[in-house]
Amino acid sequence: MMAKKILIAPSILSADFSKLGKEVSDAGAAGADLIHVDVMDGRFVPNITMGPLVVKAIRPVTGLPLDVHLMIAEPEKFIGPFVDAGADIVTFHIETCKDPEGLIAMIRKTGKRLGVSVRPKTPLSALDDILDKVDMVLVMTVEPGFGGQSFMKDVLPKIKKLRSYFTKDIEVDGGITIENAQDAAAAGANILVVGTSIFASKDYKTAIKKLKGL
Ligand code: DX5
Ligand code: ZN
Repeated sequence: MMAKKILIAPSILSADFSKLGKEVSDAGAAGADLIHVDVMDGRFVPNITMGPLVVKAIRPVTGLPLDVHLMIAEPEKFIGPFVDAGADIVTFHIETCKDPEGLIAMIRKTGKRLGVSVRPKTPLSALDDILDKVDMVLVMTVEPGFGGQSFMKDVLPKIKKLRSYFTKDIEVDGGITIENAQDAAAAGANILVVGTSIFASKDYKTAIKKLKGL
């Protein structure tokens, strides 16, 4: 199989929220491929971040796809609001889900792209029944909840295993740096979510270029 092109999805969780619109357009101008939006509810994860209002606010600022990562309990309650706000990709966590098939049907009806995410310790077997129904798997390489954590390299074999039987998008999220980005890509990830390593850098364009291995 031909290696997929590496796409970079800056996570606005690490952006300067006092100028969020500018941060999003700057990330786009610097070569970002998607804009990653981390939604946390203080229930599934021990932190609260942003809701549909933020997605709606940044929608007119960029033409890039908005990649919404739902780290929330009862995701079925919020598919409609996030899609109406302008989400292009909706990713839910398998650990939150009593009825994954029902949730998948609900997201499919919106016509948006559909992702499913696994925490670092959740086995790939948790996805066995639904893998053929999703467009993307998001493999977490930190415990979800906060930006700025260290990449868990013991998750790399899981990415490699998934790539051996899953040909669609594999997104990796958490602790990605210029130093480890190529390890994640070599394991089979083709979309890299990057917060701190872009937004804490002085030069987003150079950071994105290096993250792509260029
Ligand atoms: C963690 C989030 C990630 C994270 C990425 O719960 O899903 O998107 O913020 O940020 P860094 O790159 O700083 O780990
Ligand atoms: Zn994320």
